[in-house]
Amino acid sequence: MERASATAWRVRAPAKLNLTLRVGPLRADGYHPLDSIVAKVTLYDELLIERAPDGVLELVCPDPQAGPAEGNLALRAARALRQRGGRGGARITLHKRIGVGAGLGGGSSDAARTLWALNQIWGLNLPPAELAALGASLGSDVPLFLGPPASRMRGRGEVLDPIDLPAFDALLVTPPVHCATGPVYLAFDAQNPGPLVAFDPARLTGHPVSQWDDRLVNDLYAPARQACPAVGDWADRLHERLGRPVHMTGSGSALFVLLADRQDGLALHAQLPPDLARCARLVGLNPW
Ligand code: C5P
Repeated sequence: MERASATAWRVRAPAKLNLTLRVGPLRADGYHPLDSIVAKVTLYDELLIERAPDGVLELVCPDPQAGPAEGNLALRAARALRQRGGRGGARITLHKRIGVGAGLGGGSSDAARTLWALNQIWGLNLPPAELAALGASLGSDVPLFLGPPASRMRGRGEVLDPIDLPAFDALLVTPPVHCATGPVYLAFDAQNPGPLVAFDPARLTGHPVSQWDDRLVNDLYAPARQACPAVGDWADRLHERLGRPVHMTGSGSALFVLLADRQDGLALHAQLPPDLARCARLVGLNPW
């Protein structure tokens, strides 16, 4: 957290990639059991958090894609922390760089980093486990952003084990397509899925990144293509253009191609037609 002034802090909120995502049948509580290897990556929303008089909680987001401030998960996170005993106020300005409805976890990351920052700014100092529980009450993906660079995520997202993932580079393509999570899970349910298949993290951690492509799997890929046909079109075009395996994160719509190194990524980027190139960028494993 970088100080912007005596009463303001700049906070970065990274995106995530689900390198793998296995999903089991719908549980009685309306969620699906997951087994996913998740890595934070070097694409960030930026938050400016300013101290405000006690009780004042405001959020401004210049990006219309983010929707109304009232429902914003970062604002809900600030409110939840205040209910847990936080004394103070905050004005949050959110600059979105992470696509919305992309499976990159931007909203969850904004919420997690707001919790993390205000916990310090307000001097509340809740221990990590309490912050994580508060995060889980806001959304399934919030706790992972309070954790280390890479985790194995289970349960509905709240069971996290840190994993030691080697650094990797990826070409991330965020199509201008919102893929809402609900309809993708509905399409998944309609397939009558079998029981959750576990994914042993050693299948990635024990092997060089050059051997990962064949090991990555996302059980929501076919359902996302069904619920959001544009995702399939983008994935097919990318695959045809680059001749490389294309993977999807979360419930989509963002896609990624694993790279040998950044040079490889620059070469691939140069092969893309303008509309794909505009939506593509190089990312790596976030160091924190
Ligand atoms: O927890 P969160 O609000 O982020 O979840 C959004 C929606 O995604 C849920 O209402 C549910 O439909 C779906 N979901 C799920 N199983 C999970 C996580 C999310 O079915 N483990």
